[in-house]
This record gives sequence, structure tokens and C-alpha cells, in this order.
Amino acid sequence: MKINGTPYRSVWLDADGHSIRIFDQTKLPWAVEELVLSDEEAVAHAIRSMQVRGAPLIGAVGAYGLAMALRRDPSIENLERMAAMLNETRPTAVNLKWALDRICAAVRNHPPERRADAAYAEASAICDDDVETNRKIGEHGLELLKEIAARKKAEGREGEPVRVLTHCNAGWIATVDYGTALSPIYQAHDAGMDVHVWVDETRPRNQGALTAWELGSHGVPHTFVTDNAGGHLMQHGLVDIVIVGTDRVTRNGDVANKIGTYLKALAAKDNDIPFWVALPHSTLDMSVRDGLAEIPIEERSAAEVTATTGLLPEGGVGAIRVAPESSRAANPAFDVTPARLVTGLITERGRCEASEEGLAALYPERV
Ligand code: MRU
Repeated sequence: MKINGTPYRSVWLDADGHSIRIFDQTKLPWAVEELVLSDEEAVAHAIRSMQVRGAPLIGAVGAYGLAMALRRDPSIENLERMAAMLNETRPTAVNLKWALDRICAAVRNHPPERRADAAYAEASAICDDDVETNRKIGEHGLELLKEIAARKKAEGREGEPVRVLTHCNAGWIATVDYGTALSPIYQAHDAGMDVHVWVDETRPRNQGALTAWELGSHGVPHTFVTDNAGGHLMQHGLVDIVIVGTDRVTRNGDVANKIGTYLKALAAKDNDIPFWVALPHSTLDMSVRDGLAEIPIEERSAAEVTATTGLLPEGGVGAIRVAPESSRAANPAFDVTPARLVTGLITERGRCEASEEGLAALYPERV
């Protein structure tokens, strides 16, 4: 996608051929700053501190981190140690483990002197795969949005945009390009469809600001709302569809995503509004059956809740305390939406029901 007219991916190889460049997402959307990551420790720090974030993107960046580790020491012991170290940086999104496993499988049978090159080639293939996958998610999601537009027309509401509500940021900056939940929206906008997006702020880290920034840069009409506004908007007939991304989808179609997603799904169910989840194959975890019991939910620092970060009146990006000094805070970063609340899944292979049967029909080789 583009920043000020220049096309970018959200991770790319630096001129030295072994470092990578990313955008520091702790500064976005207030400042667009590139960061160079040259070793696995810098990569681990970037993922932990959320300088890079979003399930597919942390997978791609983690893959490059493992390639960097192999440049220094190509032994199988180091491969396994560094894969485990990188995998521990964030626990909920399965894409990280998926990408690290893919690197391990790609290099294991090479002689030591070939392993780093093989790892870089595989990391680059992971990035290309993500871009193509997300482009296809956009195509399948666009069909869904067209169906909604056609239904509105049949009801004599063609003057109204298709109104999508999204939570967190599942746009191009959370992936290598295009995004997952936002990919259909970009394609709809590019195809000339009248679309409007309600963007949840997504406290505590305000990833909705990233979504608003992305949509604004692409010219997509949108409105930024507090996390608590969604139910009200749905009750008043102002939302046609909810589309979110996800960090892990289980065998039976349970969906882990940013904290607050579950409440949106409940409100959508109560108001008979379709609730769709967009995911690439790398987000599917067929080893987990019961999302609520088995998906590890990341607990982040209480400081993210007691303070909020933004552009300070005096300039620069910083935090302002919002809770009393004496208050404790808890910060579960994700929740699980049970499959029964999910209308369907949008994947690169098409749409399916959020169920074992639905997923098996699209991914028979994963069953
Ligand atoms: O904590 P984050 O910002 O990494 O969480 C991101 C989300 O929850 C996204 O919605 C999800 O990763 C899907 S990204 C395509």
C-alpha cells in the first residue's frame, strides 16, 4: 500500500541484504519512522514492544529474525534455541510459530553453511505468500460486500454506503500487505463501491488509530468511535456487517482476536448483524479444538491501561496517565469469540462456516 504516494510493504530487506526495515508502529500514526533490525535480539524486542504487531506481520518478521540468528551460528542447536526464544515474544497469534516452524523445516536438511541463505529465501517466500493470500481474502470479502450492497439496493437503500464496523487493526500494516479484514474494504473502495467504516478505537493500545490512518491514506470514508459505541450503532441500524481479523482460529472455528472482539460479536448477534472474520491459512490452528480453554491469552503490562499514549500537546509521542495512581489494572490483550457467534470466515480459498466441517471443506489437507 502507499504512504504519501510511495508503495510500501510493512517489512522489507535492507540494502545490506540481511537486515530488515519496518515501520515503528509505536510511533504510528503520528510519525512515520523506519526502524532497521539487524539481529534476532532486535527482532525479539520489536515484537515484544509492538514496534511490529499484527499476527501475519509478527510471523514474517520473526522468520527474518531466525534467519539473522543462523548467520551468526547455523547449528541446529542454535536454530532450535532461537526459534523458541522468538516464539515466546508473543503467545496468542499462531502465525509466529507457523512461520518459525516453516523456517526450521526449510533449513534443517541443508549443510550449516547453506542454512542462513535458505532461511532468508524462506522468509522472503513467507512474505510473498502473505501478500498474495491477503489479496485473495480481499477478493472473496468483496463478493460478500457486493451481496450486502445488492440487498440494500433491493430494499431501496442504494443511496446508503455499505457500513462496516471493524475492531483493532487488521490492515496492511498488520500484515505484509493489503491486510485481512481491511483487504475487502480496500478492494471495494477501489472498485468504486460506496463503503464507510466504523473504526473502534481499541484501547488500551489504540490500534484503531492505525486503522483510521490506513483508511484515511487510501481515501476510504471512516469514522473513529470509542470501543463502547458499537452496540449502540448496531441497535440504531447503522452497521451492515462487522469484519475483524484474528490471531488464531481453532479447528472448530473459535476466534481469538483483540480484546473486545467478543463483545462486538455478542452485540452483532443480538442485532442480527453478520459477524465475519478474515484470516489467512497461517492463522489456522487445527491442533486446538476449544479456543476458550486452550488458546494462551497474552497478559500485557498494566501500564498500557493506566495510561494512554498519543500525541502530546507539547509535541512528540508519549503517555498520559488516566487511572488514579493507587489503582491496580489488568490487561488481557485478546479474547476468544466462540464459533457460534461467528457468521462465517473469509479466507484466501473462499468463505466458509466457522466450524470443523466448514474449515475441512476449504483445507482438506489440514484435517
Ligand atoms: O496486539 P496486536 O496489535 O498485535 O493485535 C492485532 C490483532 O488483534 C489483529 O486484529 C489481528 O492480529 C489480525 S491482524 C491481520
